[in-house]
Amino acid sequence: MTKFYQKLLENNKEWVASKLEENPAFFDELANGQNPPLLWIGCADSRVPANEITGTKPGEVFVHRNIANMVIHTDMSMLSVLDYAVNVLHVKHVIICGHYGCGGVQAAMGNKQFGIIDNWLRHIKDVYRIHYAELEAIKDEKDRLNRFVELNVIEQVYDLCKTSIVQNAWKKRKTPSIHGWVYDIKNGLIKDLGVSVSDNSNLAEVYKIAPDTVF
Ligand code: CO
Repeated sequence: MTKFYQKLLENNKEWVASKLEENPAFFDELANGQNPPLLWIGCADSRVPANEITGTKPGEVFVHRNIANMVIHTDMSMLSVLDYAVNVLHVKHVIICGHYGCGGVQAAMGNKQFGIIDNWLRHIKDVYRIHYAELEAIKDEKDRLNRFVELNVIEQVYDLCKTSIVQNAWKKRKTPSIHGWVYDIKNGLIKDLGVSVSDNSNLAEVYKIAPDTVF
């Protein structure tokens, strides 16, 4: 354990050296500030590192991760990240990226108790209820879980669109676009679910926030 811990610090020194070799101004440039075009909302799973799988560098992706890439509109941490990314950094894109084989989604599909996390998983169970007919019609359990992962991402895309933060930003500057992706741990490939939303026209009327209520 100590060895592993020490190794991380050694790795860090090697990383700094390699970055400086590539570009002596690497850290000076980053220290000047960030201007990332993208907010990534992903799963906390250790196998889905946002930068690595998208070939992006430090400074290019603003990241929020939690269990099963959820957008819970009472989650202060998520809302704060979203507000900063949208209203200060003016990100052009937000990507919700789920992944096949997600333990959180799998747990939500079952009935086992896990502890306090059950309350978080409840939000994912709600997604199952919304898409109950489609999911119950899939007999193969793996296929059903894969589809549940996809539907959960799509639902989170729309949950993000329902926030006042995103709807107000659309009115002010027509950005960001919200996209839904699923990463496949088995082959490393990302599937674009084809959901890209940049206005509230597809939202049910009750979720639309009227322009004249913007202050
Ligand atoms: Co996961």
